Amino acid sequence: MIQKYIFGEPFETEAVVEKIQAEEGLPDIGEISLKGGFSYSYMMKDSDIIYGLGEANRGLNKRGYRYVSDCTDDPIHTEDKASLYGAHNFIVVSGEKCFGLFFDYPSKITFDIGYTRSKLLSVSCENANLYVYVIGGENAYDIVKQFRRIIGKSYIPPKFAFGFGQSRWGYKTKEDFRKVLKGHRENHIPLDMIYMDIDYMQDYKDFTVNEDNFPDFSEFVQEMKDAGVRLIPIIDAGVKIEKGYSVYEEGVEKGYFCKREDGSDFAAAVWPGYTHFPDVLNKEAREWFGSHYKFLLDQGIEGFWNDMNEPAIFYSEEGMKELKAYIRGYAEEKEDTSPWELGARTEGLANSARDYRRFYHCVDGKMIRHDKVHNLFGYNMTRAAGEAFERLAPDKRILMFSRSSYIGMHRYGGIWTGDNKSWWSHLLLNIKMMPSLNMCGFLYIGADLGGFGADATRDLVLRWLAFGVFTPLMRNHAAIGTREQEVYQFEDVDDFRGVIETRYRLIPYLYSVYLKAAENDDLYFKPLAFEYPEDSFAAGVEDQLMIGEEIMIAPVYTQNAKGRYVYLPEEMMLVKFTKDNCYTTEVLEKGHHYIEAALSEVPVFIRKGKCIPVVKAAECVEKLDTEHVEYVGYEGIFHIDNIYI
Ligand code: GLC
Repeated sequence: MIQKYIFGEPFETEAVVEKIQAEEGLPDIGEISLKGGFSYSYMMKDSDIIYGLGEANRGLNKRGYRYVSDCTDDPIHTEDKASLYGAHNFIVVSGEKCFGLFFDYPSKITFDIGYTRSKLLSVSCENANLYVYVIGGENAYDIVKQFRRIIGKSYIPPKFAFGFGQSRWGYKTKEDFRKVLKGHRENHIPLDMIYMDIDYMQDYKDFTVNEDNFPDFSEFVQEMKDAGVRLIPIIDAGVKIEKGYSVYEEGVEKGYFCKREDGSDFAAAVWPGYTHFPDVLNKEAREWFGSHYKFLLDQGIEGFWNDMNEPAIFYSEEGMKELKAYIRGYAEEKEDTSPWELGARTEGLANSARDYRRFYHCVDGKMIRHDKVHNLFGYNMTRAAGEAFERLAPDKRILMFSRSSYIGMHRYGGIWTGDNKSWWSHLLLNIKMMPSLNMCGFLYIGADLGGFGADATRDLVLRWLAFGVFTPLMRNHAAIGTREQEVYQFEDVDDFRGVIETRYRLIPYLYSVYLKAAENDDLYFKPLAFEYPEDSFAAGVEDQLMIGEEIMIAPVYTQNAKGRYVYLPEEMMLVKFTKDNCYTTEVLEKGHHYIEAALSEVPVFIRKGKCIPVVKAAECVEKLDTEHVEYVGYEGIFHIDNIYI
């Protein structure tokens, strides 16, 4: 049962697609106050678990901390951070009473889940203009599925997007890309995608290609495709301000950029220097921005990643003016200010709340200040692309994922979880975040495997890839200036081959699980508690995940570990996928086990009575031999209703 409540005059985010009649009065679970904004409060029972919040920090059970939905370009995802790149305001209270809550509110909103007072769940925001959905159901899993139904079907990527992708900020020339291809092919490591970061563009201008480096871009795209590899270019939110650059000129002429209060185009500096933001909340501007993807589609490109779309701002014209005035004042009246304050002022230039109040969107003829709808920018940039693909390539699936997002964007693309670091703690964060993202509709998801910032170690890359075998987006990505982490850069490359080949052996299975989850508003990754609701120990397990109906995984995420303890909620068959297309099996009883796993091995636990299809690895998805499928697991009972191969 789903109840919808309206407070004030909410902005139409279009997160929910099902028509639901609004209720009179207030929800009968918890309390709502409209004094000085909006706040919801509920006293949790000791045993309540709180699920949800999608791309948020910390654990699967969100209890005990404070989270703020406020899409933020912050590359330091330490434990204390309250906001990451996405805003996914859906939670489920799971306990004696079970219910879900979705706060459809496009600006900053705080979820204090037992942080200020350990039993108090409180959700608050500044303006009481929002929709609140209360979702009842039998249990947390049932509630999640009902929520997924009202927000519409999740995006489905092309099958090649289940292959392995290599990325690094800094690849510039054809030779750089050919080297990556060669490194994989010569070492017989499967590869389907090489990502193009900002350096493929001409001066970081969206929808351009550097002409010196790629004079014949479409031929190069074809050359790569002939070798089984798709090039996947990045698109950034800001459009460079440059006379003669057609995207800029058109946007200015048509009035499609975000404006200041005085009607002039707002200027924010990002990678290209000063840029204007396309007003993707405005339907026509969105259509216009989306239509530019055609430039790359026409050259054979079949996938993109949308970045810097919180939107990230390094500094604005106004911010610079204010800083300069401050510095001048500082020079004149030194005694009043400290150098630390000067530094803080400079740092505070980036992604400042002040800047988010300086520009406007034009929605249905009304000017809306950006901060009031801040969390919708990445969503609508990706929607611009998704809607354009429906027009430009209606018979084709195009790969699309974004950094920033809001619920609703899951219909147009996936997510990568932004600038993590080569830290073991971020591998664990990656594991815990996946089911929460699924609950909010995002199925095509993954982190920068090996870590984006900081220097990766060989064992971290291997262990992270071994988890990445199961994430729909499996991409190794790293920042410029960090240690090279393409898998062929490390010694004993056959260990890496073993892990990545395991992904390819499982692609028919994993892609099937994905399609079923997308079609049935179901989860690809599930917490153990969703499958074993009666098992009180399973309820607390956050570092093991169920996938589809058939398997459980328990990734190793600590350095120098030979393996790890795993809890089996029922008898299962441990299948260790090993190098050279081999595997071993062992049936294990319900309970606790120490499972050893070498760096090249990928353990999978098959549920009692089930089996999964496994094929032989190939150098790319197109070359997988899906005629010859082996079923691995329990014999005799064939439990897979549909395999999409
Ligand atoms: C941002 C992205 C990162 C990319 C970089 C350069 O930090 O999150 O993935 O490599 O910009 O484009």
